[in-house]
Amino acid sequence: MTHPRSSRINGFYRLSPDERLKCVAEFSDLNPAAVEAFSPANSLALEKADHMIENVIGVFCLPLGIAVNFIVNHREVLVPMAIEEPSVVAGSSFMAKLARAGGGFFADTTEPQMIAQIQVLDVPDLAAASESILEHKSELCALADQVNPFMVELGGGARDIEVRILNDTPIGSMLIVHLIYDTRDAMGANTINSAAEQLAPHIEILSGGRTHLRILSNLADRRLAWARVTIPAEVLAFNSFSGERVRDGIIEAWAFAEADPYRAATHNKGIMNGIDSVLIATGNDWRATEAGAHAYAARSGRYTSLSRWFDGKDGALVGELKLPLAIGTVGGSTRVHPTAKACLELMRVQNARELAEIVVSVGLAQNLAALRALATEGIQHGHMRLHARQVALVAGATGDLINRVAEELADEGKINISRAKELVQKWTHE
Ligand code: MEV
Repeated sequence: MTHPRSSRINGFYRLSPDERLKCVAEFSDLNPAAVEAFSPANSLALEKADHMIENVIGVFCLPLGIAVNFIVNHREVLVPMAIEEPSVVAGSSFMAKLARAGGGFFADTTEPQMIAQIQVLDVPDLAAASESILEHKSELCALADQVNPFMVELGGGARDIEVRILNDTPIGSMLIVHLIYDTRDAMGANTINSAAEQLAPHIEILSGGRTHLRILSNLADRRLAWARVTIPAEVLAFNSFSGERVRDGIIEAWAFAEADPYRAATHNKGIMNGIDSVLIATGNDWRATEAGAHAYAARSGRYTSLSRWFDGKDGALVGELKLPLAIGTVGGSTRVHPTAKACLELMRVQNARELAEIVVSVGLAQNLAALRALATEGIQHGHMRLHARQVALVAGATGDLINRVAEELADEGKINISRAKELVQKWTHE
């Protein structure tokens, strides 16, 4: 094994889950409570779950894997990913390994500014109402700041008021007020929704209209994260594929997604495979991020790829990804769910922006993994062996039999339950 602070851990996949956890605990100096939180028995207690949502009857578990090899902004990091789909953790880890040749991932974010919307109807004079609201910006921001003084103390709070007129809706024109609010390390939904509700009566007075919806926008385009990776062409070479061929194949695959919404949806889904699994692991609202990502991908009026791949200096492959990431390291279930809390500890992130920088890098790595496979030997090649393991499990294989059945299914090219059951029966009684 290499130095404990390097995320480049040779043979990590060959260890048992307990050995992997030990290795991760050493890497991240995890305290015993955090280590405990990774075992299903000590994860989310029913009593806690019962306070999180309604009508609880149990808890739902997902596999939690660790993506190795990541360097983000010069920092070695192990990334927890909760996901049911095979290949994602392996794909991200492998691409992060290739990325090391170019120094890893470089990522950044805007300030964590959220947008809350207030819909104003029946406005007698839209232009005069807009003017009056904008004239009272500072009073409105001060009122919004009263909602969560602690957030203001932490350096967050209201930043701006914007006004938009929608002339052509199915019910005629309406005025939309945006409150721009910095939520620091929280996703901030509760705070900004409350702030929007707080402002509504004042907006009614200033506009002469009737306020209707008061809710945040998931198109969080004031809270963006972006990442860039550079991979020397020679590092991309494998089997009979030269590095240049892989690089060009990836650029051709990206061009397809850039031009065609049918492909872009699948391309972006691959990106979200990486992003969502880190968000789930850290207790973040991945539906909010999904909504924001896809709306952002369509911001030009045509749905397109969230990432961009091109030829860089010295023929290297360069990838970039930018999207809204309204995520937090405090609030919501990030600190309530013991495993989510432990996952944040594992990554040793200081704040929400640092988490977003890791998350966007994983999205880019995952996009690269998919494009590299699709542009060379096809996605099913690696996928089927992993899928075969799931089929073996469903067929009742346990212990060593799981891999044995899976390998046989993959070799035979017949990955189905009935064949798996036959093999389980045959080898269980051997
Ligand atoms: C599968 O979950 C994700 C991919 O379809 C992404 C892609 O096509 O780019 C492999």
